[in-house]
Amino acid sequence: MEQYAIKGGNPLVGDVEIGGAKNAALPILAASTMTDESVYIENMPDVRDINVLLEALERIGVMEKRPDRHKVVMNAGNINSLVVDDEALKKIRASYYLVGALLGKYRHAEVVLPGGCDIGFRAIDQHIKGFRALGASVTIEHGLIKAEAERLVGSHIYMDVSSVGATINVMMAATMAEGMTTIENAAKEPHVVDLANFLNSMGANIKGAGTDVIRIKGVTRLHGTEYTIIPDQIEAGTFMFAAAVTKGDVTVKNVIPKHLESITAKLLEIGCEVEETDDCIRVVASKPLQHTHVKTLPYPGFPTDMQPQITVALALSEGTSIVTESIFENRFKYVDELTRMGASIKVEGNTAIITGVKRYTGASISAPDLRAGAALVIAALAAEGLTMVDDIRYIQRGYEDFHLKLQGLGAQIELVETEKDFQKFRLKTG
Ligand code: EPZ
Repeated sequence: MEQYAIKGGNPLVGDVEIGGAKNAALPILAASTMTDESVYIENMPDVRDINVLLEALERIGVMEKRPDRHKVVMNAGNINSLVVDDEALKKIRASYYLVGALLGKYRHAEVVLPGGCDIGFRAIDQHIKGFRALGASVTIEHGLIKAEAERLVGSHIYMDVSSVGATINVMMAATMAEGMTTIENAAKEPHVVDLANFLNSMGANIKGAGTDVIRIKGVTRLHGTEYTIIPDQIEAGTFMFAAAVTKGDVTVKNVIPKHLESITAKLLEIGCEVEETDDCIRVVASKPLQHTHVKTLPYPGFPTDMQPQITVALALSEGTSIVTESIFENRFKYVDELTRMGASIKVEGNTAIITGVKRYTGASISAPDLRAGAALVIAALAAEGLTMVDDIRYIQRGYEDFHLKLQGLGAQIELVETEKDFQKFRLKTG
C-alpha cells in the first residue's frame, strides 16, 4: 500500500505550477456528453477522480483520446447507454453530474448514487427539486438516481442552500430545456462559472454565472468546442499555506489571484507577506505566525476545502484561534491525527478552538479525506522528525503529483510501498 514518508523541517522554497481545477473539470467532462461533436479540453488535471469519471464515460460509449497528460478529446456521438451503474463511480461525488447532463440531452438518466469524501451528510434534495421543477420525474431505486422527462420546460428555481453540485446539475439540464430557467441563490464558485463558460462555448445561453441569479435560455443543440479549464484554487491555496506552515517562500504559478482573495487575506492576517502579479502569487513567511478566526462560507467566503490547511497553520500560530466550519458537519476528523503530532485543538460541534503550539512532531498518521490528507502532509513537512501518512489514495483523488511538486520546493517526501522503502528513506534523510 502506498504511503508518504516525510522528514519535516525544510522550509519550502521555489515555484510551483498549479494544474487545472478538479471541481471544474468534473462537470465539464459530464457536460461534454451533451453534444454529438468532438470537444477538446486543455488543462485537465491528471488525478484519480477525473480518471474514474473518464473510464465510466468510456464504458457508456464516449470515445476519448488523451494527446497528452493534460489534454482530452472526447466524442459522445455514439453513447450506447443512459444507465451509468459503475462500481468505481460510486466513490466519487461528481458521478451525479451525469444526471443533469444526460437528462438535459436525452431526457433520461440512471446514475449510481454518489459517494465522495466522508465530510458530513451530503444531501441531494436541491438537485432533485431542480430537476422536478423542470418537469422530470426523479426516483431513487436500487442505488440509482433515475430521472426522466418527456419534455423539460424552463422554470424558476430557488435553491434553499447555496449548493455547488445542485447549481451545476440544474444548469446543465436547463441548458437544453424549452424556454427560460432562473436559478436563484445559485452557488458562485469559480468552477460554476467555468462550467457556464464551457457550455456557452458549445452554444448554450447562460447569463449571470458567478452571481446569485443565473438565467438560462434553453437551446436545442450544443456543438463541439475547444476549452481550457481554470487553475485549481484549492491546490494553489494548499501550497500557499504550505509556505506559511513551513516558514517558506513559495510562488504559485498559473493561478487567478481573484479566486484566491479570501486565502490571501487570511495569510496576511496571520503575518505572511503576499505578493501578487498577473498569474502568480508569492507567499513569504518570515515572521512568527499570528492567531486569527475564520469561518468557512460559500464563495467568495473562505472555502471549506481550505479549512484543514488553515487549521494546521493556526495550530502553529501564537495565541488562540477559532475555526468555524459552516458547510459540512464532519470536517474536523483529522484533528485527532493532528493532535498526535502535538497540536492542541478542542472541537465543539462545528467549531475548533485552537491553542497554538511551538512545533509539531512526526508520527504515524492516516489521511481521513482529500483536503485533510493534504493538510496533514503540510503539518508533517513542518514537524520535527519522520511522519508516515497512510491512506494517501484520498490525496491522490485531487492532487496531481503532490509529492513531486513538494520535492520541487525542497521537501523531503517520498512515495513508499514497503518497509524496505521506508528504511531507505530514513537512512537517506538521516
Ligand atoms: C462541492 O461539493 C465540491 N465537490 C466539494 O469539494 C466542496 O467541498 C463543496 O462543493 C463546497 O464548496 C465537487 O465539486 C465535486 P455543495 P458538493 O452541494 O457539490 C448542502 C473537495 O475536497 N446541500 O455545495 O457536494 C450540503 O449538505 C470536495 O474537492 C443540501 O443541503 O457541495 C452542504 O452542507 C469535497 N442539499 C452544502 O449544501 C443539496 O441538494 C454545500 O454542498 C446539496 C447540498
